Amino acid sequence: MNIDKLRNDFPVLRDNPKLAYLDNAAMALKPDCVIQAVDNYYSKLGVNVHRGVYKLSYEATDLYEEARDIIAKFINASFEEVVFTRGASSSLNLVALSYGLSFLKEGDEIITSELEHHSSHMPWMNVAKLTGAKVVYVPLNDEGRITIQAFKSVLSNKTKVVALNYVSNVMGYITPIEEIIKLSHEVGAIVSVDGAQAVPHMKIDVKKLDCDFLSFSGHKLCGPTGIGVLYGKKELLDKMPPIEFGGDMADTVKKDEMTFKATPYKFETGTPIIAGAIGLAKACQYLDSIGLDNISKYEKMLKDEAVKKLKLIKGVKIYNPNAETGIISFNIDGVHPHDAASVFDNEDVCIRAGHHCAQLITSWLGTIGTVRASFYFYNTLEDVDKLVKGVSDAVDFFNMF
Ligand code: ALA
Repeated sequence: MNIDKLRNDFPVLRDNPKLAYLDNAAMALKPDCVIQAVDNYYSKLGVNVHRGVYKLSYEATDLYEEARDIIAKFINASFEEVVFTRGASSSLNLVALSYGLSFLKEGDEIITSELEHHSSHMPWMNVAKLTGAKVVYVPLNDEGRITIQAFKSVLSNKTKVVALNYVSNVMGYITPIEEIIKLSHEVGAIVSVDGAQAVPHMKIDVKKLDCDFLSFSGHKLCGPTGIGVLYGKKELLDKMPPIEFGGDMADTVKKDEMTFKATPYKFETGTPIIAGAIGLAKACQYLDSIGLDNISKYEKMLKDEAVKKLKLIKGVKIYNPNAETGIISFNIDGVHPHDAASVFDNEDVCIRAGHHCAQLITSWLGTIGTVRASFYFYNTLEDVDKLVKGVSDAVDFFNMF
């Protein structure tokens, strides 16, 4: 990878050469090609899809549906298995509200974990409350990981749904999801994978994984905000009811009867997220041109380098030194994560501080929050050094008081 060349694709990096943008787990920056794809739709077309009986609308429809095809190929899914949503949270909620409320009953069990983002486990807490099903948490090991052994200890014939992340947004651990999916299917459970932190960073093949559902957001993979994907196996999506009703998803509507379009359209109510889908497809092509395997290796190298250097600073506690991805969570003794973040901001280092919408894991770590640095392919070893200097300055600054 030619990092300098890649960095030049990003207007925010061109305009702010000193910036160390290390909040990629919250959102990735946008390259020119994505911005241009969105701009192209708005400036050359800017009309609705699926409805207009005129050339501009046909063209917009073609672009929108081509985007679905590109995104399907990106994860090795079929065209009908890609549902556009507002983001990973909406996708995860769609699975819970549609599949969960239709197929779960009292006594059924849903396995999730303390390592989840709120959007991964909260929709199932809601389903449990409404159906009488029970949420069961996989015990984490001493490092805070989900292991196969621990997963087996909670898996049973009562398990009907397994809702787990592929990569934790706080710890950066890769869940052994392929094996978990195999074991879950043996007891007849379906698996909903939160792929928000995985799809932007590693090559995902849904057929190989054999997951039932995979949710991810566009904005974390260099795409626009407000667009996400729910991948679902067609046979499951076909038997699930829509959770929103109205324009575009309807087929026949009478006073006492309504029918819906086929999968995936029955889940896409109202005017679709047209520019978002077009921009996301461009982002997928862009990432494929760099190579997801190159991206994973490079981010891990940056993270390992940062861990090595941060370990040398007295008073720094790293919670996940062995993470396989580009995420580091740490704290500075006696310093609130938000105070540390303010010091970094003065040095143009952008990180996230707090509970990262994952309060179960911050509680498990025995803290109110962490400082989190998360790398992407456009970060550099200089960014690592800026982070390390920021931490070192924060340690010095707060020790003055
Ligand atoms: N879920 C995103 C994060 O972890 C926003 O920062």
